[in-house]
Amino acid sequence: MTDSNFRHITVLLDEAVEGLAVRADGCYMDGTFGRGGHSRLILQKLGPGGRLLGFDKDPLAIATGEALAAEDGRFVVVQRSFAELGDEAVVRGISGQVSGILLDLGVSSPQLDDPERGFSFLNDGPLDMRMNPDAGVSAADWIATADEDDIARVMKDYGEERFAKRMARAVVQRRAEQPFTRTADLAKVLTDANPAWEKGKNPATRAFQGIRIHVNNELGDLERGLEAALETLEVGGRLVVISFHSLEDRIVKQFMKRQAKGEADKLPRDLPIIPKAFEPRLKLIGKPVYAAEAELKANPRSRSAVMRIAEKLR
Ligand SMILES: C[S@@+](CC[C@H](N)C(=O)[O-])C[C@H]1O[C@@H](n2cnc3c(N)ncnc32)[C@H](O)[C@@H]1O
Repeated sequence: MTDSNFRHITVLLDEAVEGLAVRADGCYMDGTFGRGGHSRLILQKLGPGGRLLGFDKDPLAIATGEALAAEDGRFVVVQRSFAELGDEAVVRGISGQVSGILLDLGVSSPQLDDPERGFSFLNDGPLDMRMNPDAGVSAADWIATADEDDIARVMKDYGEERFAKRMARAVVQRRAEQPFTRTADLAKVLTDANPAWEKGKNPATRAFQGIRIHVNNELGDLERGLEAALETLEVGGRLVVISFHSLEDRIVKQFMKRQAKGEADKLPRDLPIIPKAFEPRLKLIGKPVYAAEAELKANPRSRSAVMRIAEKLR
């Protein structure tokens, strides 16, 4: 596998690294290394005593990370989900001591653009969609065995596809005759089953998004990753999260809001002192950040990005 032909343009590069408020001697985590756009800028801000630990599920991202680690002794990369960043921090003896954690969610451009990865409904490839093709169940295997109701739920809940039921029925009918192995084949069946094409949007877009999110357990990983990040940060440490669709952003927003509110409202009103365990654990930093005009022009992928920043209080 090689991906030298596929580039990833980092979204909200300066804004995200600024949000981390990098200290020269701090220890940081990039939960979604990708091609290392954010990581390289973090390393520029770190002094000789600073450290950065990168995570990615994708073998090609890891290969890029290992090349960077060979050049820069302050950087290490691991092929692991950011959902497990808390366990990694415990093993490395840095739990509760990390100064900033960045999550730039979703898939990278090389994953989407390389037909061989099986994410693309535009360019035919093997129906896979796994960020780590050596782990978990491919889209083809899942589509071959899932219940019709399950397929419909995934397309509706994770793809926000209105016609999920019809599309799932069409998939199940077709697979009885011939299994799905290629992205273009699945895209064609989904497109034919979609009665309401939206202008400027491929009729299979939402269903593909749903399947991709399911196959990679993206929302489950995000929930676990946010909880783990809170435990792993030091007091005063920053959590910076960039989301690319409303399902992700809702999870990030609600998590940060809940942690910033604390649980004092669960206590009797007249309690003179709020016990520590009920005080807020995060402070929200600024408003949600969107890409500026110049970035929107240069990189259409930035259109859907929203970044939220919070700081650990306890
Ligand atoms: C949007 S890209 C990140 C791009 C990166 N910030 C850069 O500048 O190059 C998202 C990356 O996160 C990885 N990824 C997504 N979910 C992950 C997870 N739960 N754990 C580890 N890596 C994940 C993907 O494989 C992909 O490489």
